[in-house]
Amino acid sequence: MKTVEIKPDIYWVGAIDWAVRDFHGYVTPDGTTYNNYLIMDEQVTLVDTVKSDFSRHTIDNIKYLVDPSKIVNLIINHIEPDHASSIDRIMALAPGATIYITSKGKKGLDRHFDTSRWNFKIVKSGDTLNTGKYNLVFLETPMLHWPDSMMTYVKEAKLLISQDAFGQHIATSARFDDEFIECASNAELEDSVIDYYANILMPFGPLIKSKISEVQKLGLEIDMIAPDHGVIWRRDPAHILQRYLDLANGKANLSVSVIYDTMWHSTERMTIPIMQGIKDEGLDCKVIKLRSTPMSVAIKEFWKSRGCLIGSPTLNNILFPSVAEFLTHLRGLRPKNRIMGAFGSFGWGGGAVKEAYEEFNRMKLEVVEPGVQVLYKPSLEDESNCYEFAKSFAQKVKEYHKNFI
Ligand code: FEO
Repeated sequence: MKTVEIKPDIYWVGAIDWAVRDFHGYVTPDGTTYNNYLIMDEQVTLVDTVKSDFSRHTIDNIKYLVDPSKIVNLIINHIEPDHASSIDRIMALAPGATIYITSKGKKGLDRHFDTSRWNFKIVKSGDTLNTGKYNLVFLETPMLHWPDSMMTYVKEAKLLISQDAFGQHIATSARFDDEFIECASNAELEDSVIDYYANILMPFGPLIKSKISEVQKLGLEIDMIAPDHGVIWRRDPAHILQRYLDLANGKANLSVSVIYDTMWHSTERMTIPIMQGIKDEGLDCKVIKLRSTPMSVAIKEFWKSRGCLIGSPTLNNILFPSVAEFLTHLRGLRPKNRIMGAFGSFGWGGGAVKEAYEEFNRMKLEVVEPGVQVLYKPSLEDESNCYEFAKSFAQKVKEYHKNFI
């Protein structure tokens, strides 16, 4: 694989994973990349490694440019295995290199590797490293998205190497955003950004806002953002910063997602008048059946819309398992700025709709109560009730959305 010079003497030396479809439970239909970067300065410096399955790829890429034993510095921005699990193989080739890492990162590495023979330099925000013509500045980003996380800013190149932040799970021959847009589309790139944000970064909105504000206050000039997954932002890096601020501030489409599951099609039949009621209020509506949809796709669709209606049959007096799983997963992502309602069918005792509202309250989300329920199978009257509930829900969504304009 040919390396790519992204800035003078700074090269992408990563790997493209065309085949991964399950990224620790997160569905990646388009694969991903593991990006790392080699600074060919007086002190040869490698920023991050790659997933161990691809260590051969990055080592070959490095060899294309330099003998790996010449690596003087290895910067580890993040210790999650998709970026750090090749460290031992790199260090075997460059045993004299010094690893630059946060203190939390070092503690994590000690749990994964025998680090006793490696040289470390623990860094904090504002610490610098001169590699020759380039000055690197470290910026800790704890909990974005792990405690160890940091970014590396290459001052003279105006380059921010941002580890997971601003990434996307796309395997592509394009290394840059403009190349990807040329060969695919802006809409595809935008969808990947939302998917990645919703599934990985949703819980960290407040931290994202404060970190971007910190970067802005530092007055760092940035004309390229190089994440550890997906394409590099060079066309308009300010755009992706603003996009993250928008997402962190709760920006969403004025639309409704209807996320449901069903046993004998009764809850499913309720989605038809519900969708119609939402549409008749002028809002777009997407209907997602959980057993037909990967979890991460349902999460993305939830996050895109201002409003969400959850549909569940009652099974053994509680939520249907796939709906309970979705809501549990969602609670862990700490969603904000969304308005919720619930509907469902039951045979005798009921309980699913009540439980759904309990979950919404646990998540401190806005709700429209009491939802709508049907016994066994929707009658014409039930369908009319579903339609009216959906209309009133859509009206509330429109009102609530005004808070974010
Ligand atoms: Fe791409 Fe947090 O690892």
